[in-house]
Amino acid sequence: MSSTLVSCVRSRAPTTSASSCRCGSDLQLQHLSIREFRNLSAGEVHFGPRFTVLHGHNGAGKTNVLEALYLVATLRSFRSADFSPLVRQGQSEARVEITGLDARVGISSRLVVQLIRSERQTRRVAQADGKLVRSGLDFYGRLRAILFTPEDLGVLRGAPTGRRQFLDRVLFARERTHISDVQDYEKLLRSRNRVLRDEEGSPRTRDDLLATYEVGLAEVGGRIWTRRSRLLTDLHDRFAAAFAGIHGRSLPATVQYVSKVGALDGRVAQEVLADALRDSRRHDLVRGTTTVGPHRDDFDMQLGEQTASNFASQGQARALILAFKIAELQAARELTGEAPLLLLDDVSSELDPERSAQLFTALVREAGQCVLTTTAPHFIGLEPGQDCRYIKVTGGRIEASGAAPSNGP
Ligand SMILES: Nc1ncnc2c1ncn2[C@@H]1O[C@H](COP(=O)(O)OP(=O)(O)OP(=O)(O)O)[C@@H](O)[C@H]1O
Ligand SMILES: [Mg+2]
Repeated sequence: MSSTLVSCVRSRAPTTSASSCRCGSDLQLQHLSIREFRNLSAGEVHFGPRFTVLHGHNGAGKTNVLEALYLVATLRSFRSADFSPLVRQGQSEARVEITGLDARVGISSRLVVQLIRSERQTRRVAQADGKLVRSGLDFYGRLRAILFTPEDLGVLRGAPTGRRQFLDRVLFARERTHISDVQDYEKLLRSRNRVLRDEEGSPRTRDDLLATYEVGLAEVGGRIWTRRSRLLTDLHDRFAAAFAGIHGRSLPATVQYVSKVGALDGRVAQEVLADALRDSRRHDLVRGTTTVGPHRDDFDMQLGEQTASNFASQGQARALILAFKIAELQAARELTGEAPLLLLDDVSSELDPERSAQLFTALVREAGQCVLTTTAPHFIGLEPGQDCRYIKVTGGRIEASGAAPSNGP
């Protein structure tokens, strides 16, 4: 590890003024306790103020630890829409508890998520400081986290649905109301599509119903469209710079939001969408589905002049997505004055040693607290010490280890 890197690790990442905080302060994660979660029957992690590296063989349970942290941050899993697979086989209840410190006021906070499996369903129960929190909206944002998983790489090459979800996940962490807007939009869309397919009613009633749903879709969809395109505009320059930092300047990276109804360019999204929905009504009746709106939008990442999805190598694809995450982190820190918790799953595989070192230089500079997993801890390039803890995970057990292993997981 270079001496510059070591000295960077020693100093805390820069933060902007705490007075610019808009949605509460970030918790400094101190402790995690897990019971009957995935393959982890019981385990604890004590976190340092900066890097915690979870290392171990394939299938050991490293990603499961990140999933547990993500569950507390978002009340969701990044691997399953259903909570049932998160509860350890043969058990009926999983429990994840974190303790964190609100550094600005010096007060500790305890967040607990329980997953209770019955025959019919698995439900979640969330508690903050011993009090039950019924609404997800009241729980989100207490522990803010930015996640990178290898599945994010599929975003670049996969279907547009994955890219829209990728943007929405970023927005969920920035604006709580985005979650309810996305849910409301999906409901309205299903209703409009049902009417489009219904051949029983009179054309007049059908048109009235469609017009009603279009008002709602334009209003909620306009907000979704505006947030997503603003997000990419906000992140663009940081993303381009972060990519150049990891990969070099030979191929500039760009990203832009793509909507079927064109760029917003100062137009009011709600009005543009209302017109587009009305104009496409006849066409949609023939197709039996709604063909315009944010549920059909996409984003386009480019490397040089080429669309990255069919041009970028595996390593370049990884660098693009990681650059996006770094941009997200910088923007979040600017917004609240604190860097959110960064969760990086299997971060450096597929990066050559030079790119990997550049990535870690960027992380040391930009990240606040960061939990990462790897099967190859010798690639991590962070010295063990107060700022970087190495923790071994073996066959569903979490054990602290003193020094960074020299080779192998
Ligand atoms: N509900 C469950 N009950 C028991 N074990 C489970 C459950 N869900 C998943 N597992 C086990 O958890 C293990 C996977 O853990 P995880 O994905 O955290 O591994 P990992 O250490 O990240 O591995 P890799 O390096 O391959 O990514 C698998 O062995 C899987 O069988
Ligand atoms: Mg894993």
